[in-house]
Amino acid sequence: MKIKVGVLFGGRSVENEISVVTALQTMESMNRDKYEIIPIYIAKTGHWYTGARLLELSNYKDMKAQLAACTEVYMRPVYGDHCLYETRPGLFGRKVVASLDVILPTLHGTNCEDGTLQGVLACIGIPFVGCDVLASANGMDKITMKLILQGSGIPVVDYHWFNDKAWYADRDAVLDAVEKRLRYPVIVKPANSGSSVGIRPAHDRAELIEAVDYACTFTTRVIVEKLVEKLKEVNCSVLGNYEDCEASACEVPMRSGEILTYDDKYMRGGGKSKGMQSTKRELPAKISDEETSLIKELACKTFRVLACDGVARIDFIKDEEDRRIYVNEINTIPGSLSNYLWDFSGVPFPALVDRLIDQAFARSREAGFKVTDFGGNIFKHLGQGAKTGKLGKK
Ligand SMILES: Nc1ncnc2c1ncn2[C@@H]1O[C@H](COP(=O)(O)OP(=O)(O)O)[C@@H](O)[C@H]1O
Ligand SMILES: [Mg+2]
Repeated sequence: MKIKVGVLFGGRSVENEISVVTALQTMESMNRDKYEIIPIYIAKTGHWYTGARLLELSNYKDMKAQLAACTEVYMRPVYGDHCLYETRPGLFGRKVVASLDVILPTLHGTNCEDGTLQGVLACIGIPFVGCDVLASANGMDKITMKLILQGSGIPVVDYHWFNDKAWYADRDAVLDAVEKRLRYPVIVKPANSGSSVGIRPAHDRAELIEAVDYACTFTTRVIVEKLVEKLKEVNCSVLGNYEDCEASACEVPMRSGEILTYDDKYMRGGGKSKGMQSTKRELPAKISDEETSLIKELACKTFRVLACDGVARIDFIKDEEDRRIYVNEINTIPGSLSNYLWDFSGVPFPALVDRLIDQAFARSREAGFKVTDFGGNIFKHLGQGAKTGKLGKK
């Protein structure tokens, strides 16, 4: 019996297209003797679709035609129901497209990588690959992530954060606070975006205003960081869970300008859509052995304190002036699942997916041992017509 894997991708996220690439690469690598793959594409509207056409990259050129030729589907938020249903009702009620064993999320960004989708899957109680709600949410929000890392003694670049309400209410107060804390140049980021979307450096107050206004078009939470002028970016992937995790080889992604842009990440594959695989990179990173071990150690520590699971990529910034190393961010569903880093580290893509799926089943079994109902019934001794008065949460 093959394992039925629902590969979820797309999503209501600015990284929808990147996710298509990650998903297709992943599905191409999977062992068909072992897995039956059910591709599930979440359109930008939030509607879910399935169909064999989803496996062909060129079909995405005309999205309208692509979706019209697919079957719209849904899952019910009901614990224990692992079926994928056709949205259009059949003659005899609900029509089951597939009964899934496990979900492999290959989505990126908001509504996808931030715990939203993981919450849906947790409610359904279906085993799924990767981080749970807590780790996804903490990993996605650059502010929460930094607060947790700082609290765990992991170095992060100095920053100041605020809500867009504060910005709209009194921008001078926000600007003063940023300038008091940080010296120019700074870099402004929406706290929860990805793929460099919404991010701009600022070298003076006027640029800062523009950059914050721009970031606020994407999010309510904004983070301003000290811009490291002479930086080397180093990325390292971690695979495993809290108990047992390992770090991959390190890479240096190459950028064309001051910051690594969306184009640097995805558009440099000579016109071929290869997602993060098309980033120009130095692999392994040409850094010292001490730096490599420090980065690997910090990567595993970051993975653990954020309670991650599956495969993540932790991105570092090395300040070339004082040689300090900081954790910049974590990607809990990394582009191309970081397969190129694992392949280089001796774990080919099919083996990577095998490990991820095994881990999803193991976590699900473990969750089954935890108590969710201890058999109490506070209503047992109530008399007729009792009121809620003294009952309720204390
Ligand atoms: N503090 C910083 N100093 C200098 N450059 C930075 C800093 N933070 C980010 N960058 C640049 O901006 C890029 C995108 O920022 P990042 O925090 O990785 O956001 P994203 O989640 O969009 O990838 C980085 O890859 C790097 O090139
Ligand atoms: Mg990044």
